[in-house]
Amino acid sequence: MWSCITDFFTYETTKSVVVKSWTIGIINRVVQLLIITYFVGWVFVYEKAYQVRDTAIESSVMTKVKGFGIYNDKVMDVADYVTPTQGASVFCIITKLITTENQVQGYCPESEKKYICTHDSNCTRHLNKPGSYGILTGKCVPFNATIKMCQIKGWCPAEIDTIKTTPMMEVENFTIFIKNSIRFPIFNYTKGNFLPTITGDYIKNCNFDMVNNTYCPIFRVGDVVRYAQQNFTKLADKGGVIGIKIGWMCDLDKSDDQCNPSYSFTRLDAMSQKNAVSPGYNFRFAKYYKMENGTDYRTLVKAYAIRFDVLVNGNAGKFNMIPTLINMVAAFTSVGVGTVLCDIILLNFLKGAEQYKAKKFEEVKYLLSLRHSDTILRSSDSGAFSIEHYS
Ligand SMILES: *[C@@H]1O[C@H](CO)[C@@H](O)[C@H](O)[C@H]1NC(C)=O
Repeated sequence: MWSCITDFFTYETTKSVVVKSWTIGIINRVVQLLIITYFVGWVFVYEKAYQVRDTAIESSVMTKVKGFGIYNDKVMDVADYVTPTQGASVFCIITKLITTENQVQGYCPESEKKYICTHDSNCTRHLNKPGSYGILTGKCVPFNATIKMCQIKGWCPAEIDTIKTTPMMEVENFTIFIKNSIRFPIFNYTKGNFLPTITGDYIKNCNFDMVNNTYCPIFRVGDVVRYAQQNFTKLADKGGVIGIKIGWMCDLDKSDDQCNPSYSFTRLDAMSQKNAVSPGYNFRFAKYYKMENGTDYRTLVKAYAIRFDVLVNGNAGKFNMIPTLINMVAAFTSVGVGTVLCDIILLNFLKGAEQYKAKKFEEVKYLLSLRHSDTILRSSDSGAFSIEHYS
């Protein structure tokens, strides 16, 4: 029992072999220097491993579009071309409209080419599939003087969406105003994209650009599309989705005016550019009216639009003792990794490797007795050498 206790309260230390060789000495110091440089330069200075990071950014975005356009000889204002109207972070600017007026519930011919028919029997094969604009009845009825089409029950007359119209080009000069507030909850730090240095006069006149007005919160649609590397005419014609990204990378150890937004722009629906099947972005909506006799009629609108998604991301870092200590311990421990490399070179590739091996790995015979008969040197299970005195 007592011997167990004395065995436990011991301290083992490793025995070192000092090698006085220029070659291995230089390799050792170079490796140590590389490891220290890596930790100081990359881990601490560049990656800022001494900070805690808050990546759960909280954000609110409000948007407002301004500008007037002319479409079909009518002046269009914000209420006509922006949808939804709440000024959220996702909104559409309508660039092109196909309207079908005075639709009422009833029976009428389809308008798509694939429903052209000569006889009722051509239409019965479509019966159980959904029609384009209504429920098919299975009859073949005249569409105009020359062709016949399958009949539908639904909102009539059916929309003809193959009409060529030109988009509203004034959209290029519309402006988008973005108000963005963010908060980093761990540090309870709030900031907005209106920097304190910005004055009311400046906001009234500025337009964002990548060089001179990097903090102006007003964006010209044409510039946004150009920064996203898109062709405005094409985009307005087919519709599409553009992302306005606001990045907040903040180092809260530095002063407050160093924590600023950075804007970048991309096309988010990149797939519809390459894919010919469903190019662009469009949607339908209707406005409903009532006739004097009580029947409903509506105006159906197929709208082609540029959708803008304002995406906010970011993180903030601030000095903290715990990550600093953990990373410093990791750095000091890693310096020792150099010895592994030096050992491999020393024991295998250097001149006189055999002698070094003999010095490094001492072979100890079982119960080898030293000067005093009561002192024995033995190898313990842990691989360490210990000298014990038996009294
Ligand atoms: C946009 O504004 C510029 C300058 O004010 C003008 O020259 C241009 O014609 C406008 N573009 C459209 C499509 O109205």
